[in-house]
Amino acid sequence: MTIFKTLGQFIIEKQADFPYAKGELSRLLRDIGIAAKVVNREVNKAGLVDILGDAGQVNVQGEGQKKLDVYADEQFIKALQNGGECCVVASEEHEFPIDIDSEISKNAKYIVCIDPLDGSSNIDVNVSVGTIFSIYRRDSIGGRPTMGDILQKGSKQVAAGYVVYGSSTMLVYTTGKGVNGFTLDPSIGEFCLSHPSIKVPARGTIYSINEGNYRKFSSGVKKYIKYCEEEDAATNRPYTSRYIGSLVADIHRNLLLGGIFIYPATLTHPNGKLRLMYECNPIAFIIEQAGGKATDGRQRILDMEPTALHQRSACFMGSSEMVDKVEQFLRSEDDR
Ligand code: AHG
Ligand code: MN
Ligand code: MN
Repeated sequence: MTIFKTLGQFIIEKQADFPYAKGELSRLLRDIGIAAKVVNREVNKAGLVDILGDAGQVNVQGEGQKKLDVYADEQFIKALQNGGECCVVASEEHEFPIDIDSEISKNAKYIVCIDPLDGSSNIDVNVSVGTIFSIYRRDSIGGRPTMGDILQKGSKQVAAGYVVYGSSTMLVYTTGKGVNGFTLDPSIGEFCLSHPSIKVPARGTIYSINEGNYRKFSSGVKKYIKYCEEEDAATNRPYTSRYIGSLVADIHRNLLLGGIFIYPATLTHPNGKLRLMYECNPIAFIIEQAGGKATDGRQRILDMEPTALHQRSACFMGSSEMVDKVEQFLRSEDDR
């Protein structure tokens, strides 16, 4: 019988990587894992309970919220409030950060930016969805955390991860020392190490982009798409187009198999669609830790100076050689 290492055991074991760690980050990651299991339970039976469909509310993005968006948001915020290690949560589902000012959290020094339910458009049709989280240590000392504590560059993240609620449920995270994947074993209710030290292949044959927006893309992006579609055996082209519409699911596949995910600036989304603080930054951290690249077409996503909680960014993320290639097309068309 294979004895798996659970997420909890792994976190404690890796705590030794951080000599000054006193267990707070470990407990925070554990709290996120617990909330993920609760959300997973509802995602798995979504059609059987009143958790499908619209919540009848609109979030700060002006997007209709699904019941599962609201449910997941509530579960992660509750877990972070009860865990005592987080002092403020910035969620896609709330216009302003949620201050966690309680007795149990009075010494909390971690900030969590979260997309509680990624891929909402796929919830009602039983397609993989996810959760994305990004963790910072507060900069300021004393008093309540400030917006400056939250709007830190992606390179300042202390940890980042995602949960993909798919054919199996996986939690993938990094603390800056590589990327590890854990698969939920429902029979014991534990995430177990199943994908140690994930590395994204330097090149792949999968490109992921919403080609329905083709007419709104820049000429450089259009030329790269045509490059992917050309016949060239020497470079394994044409590539395969795979696009699920859930960032976590598209990224997870490309992380394991190699490939590139692109959500560029378009005429309707001049800064791209994906949000920097709780989609682009955490995914970029993971992709880079796995040996890949993540840029906005011109600069590292992790170097971007955030100015607003829900700001968006174009993103080109995945296999390093594929990101380099698309950037060549963007430079040649000078539309970066
Ligand atoms: P969310 O459900 O958290 O709003 O995220 C949806 C995002 C992302 O998951 C996905 O890659 C992208 O929206 C798909 O956008 P399009 O439907 O415009 O392709
Ligand atoms: Mn999302
Ligand atoms: Mn979301």
